[in-house]
Amino acid sequence: MTTAIIGTGGIGSAIARQLASGGENLRLSSADKESARTLAAEIGGGAVVAVDNGDALHGASAVVLALRFTALKGVIDEIADPLTDKLVVVPSNPLSTDAQGHVFRVLPKGQSSGEVVAGWLPVGARLAMAFGTMSADLFESSSNRSPEPAVLFYATDDDRAGQEVERLIRTAGFEPVKVGGVKQSGRLEVGGDLHDLVVGPEQARSLIDGA
Ligand SMILES: NC(=O)c1ccc[n+]([C@@H]2O[C@H](COP(=O)([O-])OP(=O)(O)OC[C@H]3O[C@@H](n4cnc5c(N)ncnc54)[C@H](OP(=O)(O)O)[C@@H]3O)[C@@H](O)[C@H]2O)c1
Repeated sequence: MTTAIIGTGGIGSAIARQLASGGENLRLSSADKESARTLAAEIGGGAVVAVDNGDALHGASAVVLALRFTALKGVIDEIADPLTDKLVVVPSNPLSTDAQGHVFRVLPKGQSSGEVVAGWLPVGARLAMAFGTMSADLFESSSNRSPEPAVLFYATDDDRAGQEVERLIRTAGFEPVKVGGVKQSGRLEVGGDLHDLVVGPEQARSLIDGA
């Protein structure tokens, strides 16, 4: 199957490598095409560079918006029409950086990124917040763990999106575990209790049940 990845920076390129290693075909797009070209060349035959963000969605059943939170709404508005029948996977943390380089949260305390992103999406797009729960390095080093796979948590309000994102999570070499609806996505973000955790399925379920 084919997945579009818009944003080929730190986390987008890690997600692309892991999905490609699991056999997913990829259509890549980035602001400056050079980073998408370099990544496609590294991945090889399973990845192509799209002409633009809209073109990345052609023939894709899912799209990963691997963008900084502050770039998300602009890109969603740009590609709103073709998003209406897709799984939309968002790994973004609601963070930005000020002029002094200090990282700060862009949403009020208690407001989850998933709820905000859900409000930006067109009707018919199926949102899953996933693939942003670990730093890119930890994500890559934890994939295809054996004998017990590592868990990748996700949050969604949509059963079909849940099935689709579970397939992508397995393709990337992890065991999927749902934390709840998009309101729960704060638990997955930087600062959330499930962020940057490498656990197996049993421990993951006890963490969710115990919350
Ligand atoms: N990096 C991590 O370890 C990590 C882990 C988990 C979650 N996250 C979250 O994931 C999000 C992305 O982080 P990142 O570290 O991957 O950021 P990044 O390295 O800055 O990558 C952002 C990507 O977005 C692309 N982009 C920006 N505007 C675009 C547009 N209008 N159309 C298409 N592509 C556009 C950039 O293109 P160019 O390359 O051409 O500029 C770049 O490829 C953040 O919210 C972060 O909190 C990151």
